[in-house]
Amino acid sequence: MTTLLSVTGLNVSFPSIRKTVRAVRGVSLSLDEGEIVALVGESGSGKTMTAMATMGLLPDSAEVTGECQWLGRSQSLSPRGNRKSLAGQHAAIIFQNPLTALNPFFTIEQQLTDVALASGKVSRKTVLPVLLDKLSRVQLPDPAQVLKKYPHQLSGGQIQRVVIAMALVCQPRVLIADEPTTALDVIVQAEILQLLQSLAREEGLSVLLITHDLGVVASLCDRVEVMYAGEIIESGQMSDVLRSPAHPYTRKLMATVPDIRGGATVLEYISGQVPDLSRPIRGCAFKERCDRRLPVCDESPPVRALNDGQRYRCHLTSEQEVEFS
Ligand SMILES: Nc1ncnc2c1ncn2[C@@H]1O[C@H](COP(=O)(O)OP(=O)(O)OP(=O)(O)O)[C@@H](O)[C@H]1O
Ligand SMILES: [Mg+2]
Repeated sequence: MTTLLSVTGLNVSFPSIRKTVRAVRGVSLSLDEGEIVALVGESGSGKTMTAMATMGLLPDSAEVTGECQWLGRSQSLSPRGNRKSLAGQHAAIIFQNPLTALNPFFTIEQQLTDVALASGKVSRKTVLPVLLDKLSRVQLPDPAQVLKKYPHQLSGGQIQRVVIAMALVCQPRVLIADEPTTALDVIVQAEILQLLQSLAREEGLSVLLITHDLGVVASLCDRVEVMYAGEIIESGQMSDVLRSPAHPYTRKLMATVPDIRGGATVLEYISGQVPDLSRPIRGCAFKERCDRRLPVCDESPPVRALNDGQRYRCHLTSEQEVEFS
């Protein structure tokens, strides 16, 4: 399987005179061709900053270090590393509120044409058939009619499809979707997720699907990366992590999702707060909220590996966990 994107040792911080917020700390992740990977975590855990840094979209006020490889070609993620070029060539990003991606004063055709021509991958002569093709790939009925419309003449779900088509116009191999369905109602949400799945399965598009709602995306993702306080604290095949989450945070996250493992729907609330990212974190970032806390948790936890590539960042061994439960 070809690895399209790998990010290694990503750190993002926002320095200011009074304090420095360390939003992302040592994140590494990868995406293979045609794979859908979920990046999951509570609000403020650093998911969006990870995506923006990978795409080279953070403002210069952010301090970014780390490396990424696009189809084997390395590039620094620091602002001085000209990070935009490879990301823009191979990937596109879509956000939670699709309306903000569109200009209310121009038709869909005008906007998609601009994006297509600016990408340098489509000529003026071929642009119309390309647009019609992309709109039909996102399963919009009557693409020719859609082109003539203004954003306010479309429903929320149709607009998100147009935004996905707009991303596809640039012929990306990787799509980063940051909470793409949060603003949509449940039925439309399921349809958009199904669309992303079919783009991955049928066209080999790799999708990094960012969400705080593991329950909604679990069934369509191949792998999962769980973030907490700026770090990846567990990763693995989705089926393995669902069946046997190893990190105490992941276990709690599962319990906040109804019916995720087909069991009783007892919703648990993770008490306590995410640590203040502007203060140094000593040892494990989750220790204050953890019901498995050990004296050793004041020291930085190791990354432990289980079968089939599942990894978690915790002092607790699986044998100790059995004793606890
Ligand atoms: N410009 C900024 N200056 C200082 N801190 C920032 C800035 N932008 C983001 N942060 C901080 O970075 C941390 C990570 O934010 P991020 O937006 O990546 O979280 P998230 O996981 O995407 O959350 P959500 O689920 O709410 O979208 C947060 O603590 C946030 O306050
Ligand atoms: Mg976010």
